[in-house]
Amino acid sequence: MMPEKIAKIAQIREKLIQYPKVEISTFRTPIEYLGNVSRELGIKVRVKREDLSGPAYGGHYSRALEYVFGEAMKNGHDGIVHGGPSHSNQNRLIAAICAKYGLKCHLVLRRKLPVDRHDVGNLFLDQLMGADIKWVTAEMGPELDREKETRYQELVREDRENPYLFRRERVAFLSCLGMLDMFLDTYQQLDEIDFMPSSIYLTGCGPTHSGILLGTRLVDPTIEVVGVRPLHWNAQEIVSGEVNTAARNLGEDIFVSHDEVVNPPEYVGEDYGVPTQKGNEAIRYFAEREALIFDPVYTGKMAACFLDHAYDGRIPKGSRTLIIHSGGTPLTLLYSDTIYQSLGMRLDPPDIL
Ligand SMILES: Cc1ncc(COP(=O)(O)O)c(C=O)c1O
Repeated sequence: MMPEKIAKIAQIREKLIQYPKVEISTFRTPIEYLGNVSRELGIKVRVKREDLSGPAYGGHYSRALEYVFGEAMKNGHDGIVHGGPSHSNQNRLIAAICAKYGLKCHLVLRRKLPVDRHDVGNLFLDQLMGADIKWVTAEMGPELDREKETRYQELVREDRENPYLFRRERVAFLSCLGMLDMFLDTYQQLDEIDFMPSSIYLTGCGPTHSGILLGTRLVDPTIEVVGVRPLHWNAQEIVSGEVNTAARNLGEDIFVSHDEVVNPPEYVGEDYGVPTQKGNEAIRYFAEREALIFDPVYTGKMAACFLDHAYDGRIPKGSRTLIIHSGGTPLTLLYSDTIYQSLGMRLDPPDIL
């Protein structure tokens, strides 16, 4: 690696030290070469296997949460209040980290389920790991934020607990630092295996995209970052806002305007949490060729975008691409019925059984 890049990484790490952090993912996840896909597409493709991180079926959010839990624990909180959709991977990881560190986990979950099942997936795991769940009908966004605030106030008023409430902007900032930290590790790992990509594909419209975009802008702006949003939010404004806030707080002189953020809207489909045909076909594509399992809510939609870009020539032949597998393993099982149906797979066992 060029000496100025080594110096820049060291300088950013020095700045990150001022933020307390707890170690959640204790090992480095592999960056796997996808030989079959690479040969077929004429592009060199590797995947960062954050789905293999810990705990409780892992996922990249364990890195994002290191700084959030760092702040909560340094300030002496004894629990967490957060929420979201019942299929949330982030909530499953929050429940897992709370279990490991002996914190109480309060989740405010919205009732409008994307699939009508409670028996498998993240909701089952949340409960297994001891999360306390309150059901609400609020929509994602400010409505749900108000419900979380109400739950927090209840707990504080009863004077039973001193929980840390996940406030949107603060948590987005700390999660962005976590993803920046993950990017720095990944960049060093890519250097060691001599695989500098010209593009990185990921799914997200928050800290996943902003942390990695901030990292590339600071360390190696030649890498293009393509995020694929899982929901109909204004990803370009959210991501550029988070990059600029984090850069300002770290004293870094960069600015990203929203039209510089690449995050196509068309892969969401009907709604957040609703699988698309294209996404499901992309899941099968990678499963059959690489035994790499994506999910229909997040990574499958990103895989559909990646394949479009590979086929239409947006990703040049012979170039190198890194895909971030951000996890979500329990969702593939939660949605198995809809995947079976959309791919025309046989559901029932053969008569002989
Ligand atoms: C597997 C997976 N990938 C990506 C994301 C995107 O995260 P964000 O948009 O918050 O950066 C999530 C969010 O929960 C996720 O669960």
